[in-house]
Amino acid sequence: MKLTTIELAHLNHRLENAAPDTILNEIVDIFGLNMSFASSLGFEDQIITHYIARFNPGIRIFTLDTGRLFPETYDLIDRTKARYKTDIEIFFPEREATENMVNKHGINLFYESIENRKLCCKVRKTQSLKRALNGLDAWITGLRREQSVTRQNMQIVEFDEVNQLYKVNPLLNWTEENVRIFVQENNIPYNLLHDTGFPSIGCQPCTRAITEGEDVRAGRWWWEMPDQKECGLHK
Ligand code: ADX
Ligand code: SF4
Repeated sequence: MKLTTIELAHLNHRLENAAPDTILNEIVDIFGLNMSFASSLGFEDQIITHYIARFNPGIRIFTLDTGRLFPETYDLIDRTKARYKTDIEIFFPEREATENMVNKHGINLFYESIENRKLCCKVRKTQSLKRALNGLDAWITGLRREQSVTRQNMQIVEFDEVNQLYKVNPLLNWTEENVRIFVQENNIPYNLLHDTGFPSIGCQPCTRAITEGEDVRAGRWWWEMPDQKECGLHK
């Protein structure tokens, strides 16, 4: 289903301060269940999984396993599945493209140049995302506006031109404090790295702990400038 610009604007106006369960219900009404939630198992994503398990168990959940995730993230996949009795579908990078890349550029190519880093994110993440989204009408993310300069103009529901489907961001207006309190109060399973200075967690070689006062995404691709820190999942 394709919304007109005006319908989309009205929808976003209505949902701007809505709770995640209201947003999920509304988008299921509009798009049906031909949608999936992309979870990186981060704090925000665990909250959305919690809401989906409670209120919309028909929404599927997937994660992109780049092959370079932290052991703590892999543990959390199992803990989350057990806690919510839900499936989390895993997408791996294509074998041939990954082998070609690492044999040509090295296993840790991302430290060499931005081009290499983007190539690795493309092979290990965005190409898998394309497969995960293939044929869907909408996908859900745990993005928040506050996370970075690149995310400030996003909408709760927007058309993802790159992947040609709707993208829904139910926690867009949540602050980091909202997120932490909700996880604590609802006893939501979370990545233990969050307790040791990792507010934002991606691949192990591209994520470091931050120190007090640093931006929440300072530990992601820490050698790059803030306005370049997107891996291509969210353009
Ligand atoms: S990233 O683009 O910098 O890696 P970030 O870690 O902030 O993204 O996560 C933002 C949102 O992107 C997550 O809430 C999730 O919806 C999606 N996402 C990021 N990484 C993955 C992943 N490996 N698998 C599935 N979804 C992901
Ligand atoms: Fe590769 Fe790092 Fe991107 Fe992960 S975050 S896909 S390891 S460049």
